[in-house]
Amino acid sequence: MRTVVTGATGNLGRHVVDGLLEKVPADQIVAVVRNRKKAAPLAAKGVALHIADYGKPRTLNGLFAAGDRVLLISGSEVDKDRVAQHTAVIEAAKAAGAGLLAYTSAPGGLTAALADDHHATEKVVLESGLPYVLLRNNWYSENYTEQLATVLEHGAVVAAAGEGRVASATRADYAAAAVAVLTGEGYENTTFELSGDTAWGFAEYAAEISRQSGRQIEYRPVTPEVYAGILTGAGLPEGVAAILADVDVSIGKGQLADTSGELARLIGRPTTPVADSVAAALKG
Ligand SMILES: NC(=O)c1ccc[n+]([C@@H]2O[C@H](COP(=O)([O-])OP(=O)(O)OC[C@H]3O[C@@H](n4cnc5c(N)ncnc54)[C@H](OP(=O)(O)O)[C@@H]3O)[C@@H](O)[C@H]2O)c1
Repeated sequence: MRTVVTGATGNLGRHVVDGLLEKVPADQIVAVVRNRKKAAPLAAKGVALHIADYGKPRTLNGLFAAGDRVLLISGSEVDKDRVAQHTAVIEAAKAAGAGLLAYTSAPGGLTAALADDHHATEKVVLESGLPYVLLRNNWYSENYTEQLATVLEHGAVVAAAGEGRVASATRADYAAAAVAVLTGEGYENTTFELSGDTAWGFAEYAAEISRQSGRQIEYRPVTPEVYAGILTGAGLPEGVAAILADVDVSIGKGQLADTSGELARLIGRPTTPVADSVAAALKG
């Protein structure tokens, strides 16, 4: 039985493949990648490569086989029709008779526009009739800690999330959940709301960075309009800035604060505290 992972050269996908390699022989893992050169480290681990682009359905020909367990990692091209892209993968998996299709989705209660593609893809997954697992991932802690250099430069965490809290976890935590469902039994037709064990607020996050860096970092709450302006000023396209400001509005409404404990239960250990992610980012 093969395990097929799309987006395998991405940040999440690389963690998933490494986790699979601890449980599954390398020759039973297929990494779906766009760029063979970027995938060289995966090939060196003995994993089979299939070159495909979600946006070019013909490249999916011959990818899947009956019984395959598939992880569809959501695409990252927010300016493209991601639902059509994901649908092409789901249809190819269905045509081949895949045994399981797991999809990395967004929290079910998230109303921000960023989640629209995920909600629509979930519908396609359900309508496909394939045995499915919906991995509704909350936010990655790295979304924030990857901005640490900017935070330290300005002495502030800037967000439009008010007093909202984020139950983030690391990509490695979410990847471990994907590995658990791909290698375990009895997860068919399940929806998981995956989040960190603890939700943190931005003032706490700023205080944690202060504590670890020895620098005075404050939380500077701003309006969504001001935040979008800061992001465009930093070079982000207007559309992307609006999407990110909209996410902060959702955070302010408590839509990413859910600490269901489902992620820790699935991976059999506590999730990684955001303080650990701050420490890792400060170490570089
Ligand atoms: N929960 C969160 O906080 C959060 C944050 C950011 C993103 N996400 C979502 O989670 C996904 C995985 O996260 P990540 O950190 O691994 O993102 P990432 O590092 O940007 O990886 C995205 C992966 O998807 C692949 N991909 C994108 N468009 C594709 C296409 N048209 N055809 C085939 N492959 C395609 C990329 O291929 P290449 O390697 O060739 O570029 C890459 O491997 C993202 O794509 C996004 O949908 C979630």
